[in-house]
Amino acid sequence: MSPTPLADLDLPEFPLPGPEIRGETWHAMMDGIIEEGAGDDVWLARNPIATLVADREAGEFFLRSRSARFPGEYLYETFGINEGPLHDQIRHNLLNTEGDRHRRLRGLVNPSLTPKAVEKYRPAIREYLAELWERLDDPTEFDFIEAIAKPLPAMTIARVMGAPAEDAPKLWDWSNWIQQQFDPVALADPGVLETIQEKVVEFQHWIKPMVAAKRGNPGDDMVTELIAAEEEGERLSDTELENLVLNVLVGGVDTTQSQLSHIVRLLADSPDQWQALREDPGTLIPRAVEEGIRYEPITPFTARMLTEDVEYRDVLFPEGTPLIICAYTANRDPDVFTEPAEFDITRDPKGTRTLTFGAGIHYCAGTNLAKLELGEALSFLAERAGTLELASEPAYASPIGVYGIDSMKIRITPA
Ligand code: HEM
Repeated sequence: MSPTPLADLDLPEFPLPGPEIRGETWHAMMDGIIEEGAGDDVWLARNPIATLVADREAGEFFLRSRSARFPGEYLYETFGINEGPLHDQIRHNLLNTEGDRHRRLRGLVNPSLTPKAVEKYRPAIREYLAELWERLDDPTEFDFIEAIAKPLPAMTIARVMGAPAEDAPKLWDWSNWIQQQFDPVALADPGVLETIQEKVVEFQHWIKPMVAAKRGNPGDDMVTELIAAEEEGERLSDTELENLVLNVLVGGVDTTQSQLSHIVRLLADSPDQWQALREDPGTLIPRAVEEGIRYEPITPFTARMLTEDVEYRDVLFPEGTPLIICAYTANRDPDVFTEPAEFDITRDPKGTRTLTFGAGIHYCAGTNLAKLELGEALSFLAERAGTLELASEPAYASPIGVYGIDSMKIRITPA
């Protein structure tokens, strides 16, 4: 039997989340897709621009497929980004790179981000948390995002890069602007596009002298490690080196910020689980991290474009098909997770992969660092907060791009 062309399938509609969709309305909309699919084995949905892949196995298949690429070039052609600093940066971005070139560049970054390698940042992360805590006017009620979730990842990335801690706010600003290169809604605004271009130039003016300084005065950081690889003959050009550092910066700041914000929100909403976590932090902090990453993936969507026809589950997906791979629905796939709609930090994550960090060759390079930061932040809070609750409604950002929280007050009883 020949496969059914994708266009002939009768698929449920998946509306693009508009500005009003966030928080509970976001969950309701996405849970609707899962429920619609539940009885009929529906694993695809459609909207005017792309086909959404809803289940874990299929999502992983397309993320791992050699016939699918991140649609960077398509996005930038659509928005007329054909030259200039952002265009040059995009050409070198790991996500837009494939094959041998990607293997070589990833191979240079990976050693600095293994579980063992990131351990050396643990003491610094603890110091930053203590420093941020010291700055609080009232440690029993404060905006968790402004006080902790926002500054911590930027301070950590500054340390990873070997940049001075006082540059962390600048790094946060660049990361947040340049990150919008992946957001089609943002790119459609000429003002945003122009600002992203300016921010790339600012970053380049900052990183060049820093790399030059480290050549003469090596440190214990990622820039130094990349310089060493370059000098050992790994054929890494200056531009590539600068762009790898930029990739780490762009990938590693508002992502970790947003994931931490949501995990703390979920725990503040579950007083019993917070008590359980405080009683058994050794087991339950790593599990709370995994469960938060599963339950509220801050990268609910990524995208792929097919570079050739693909046949999968008796469906023919033609070359050029744009796909949205959905980590939100994949992480609640009832064939993989029991009671997937429950936030349960006692869940044993063994054997149940989520798609929050992607899959395949572009699998997130910073997973170990992100988990280290998340675990340290929870552990710090657990030692200080006997009780934890929300003192204001979280101000959610849009789930398109990175799904963050702009502000969220918490109230704690000192432990
Ligand atoms: C909770 C935090 C984070 C989440 C949820 C996250 C999520 C992701 C996802 C989904 C991808 C793959 C995108 C795709 O295949 O389309 C990715 C790639 C990437 N991430 Fe992360 N990330 C996080 C933290 C970090 C951190 C801390 C760093 C840096 C230290 C980082 C650096 C990168 C880089 C460099 C890539 C590109 C990898 C490649 O193309 O080979 N991320 N991330």
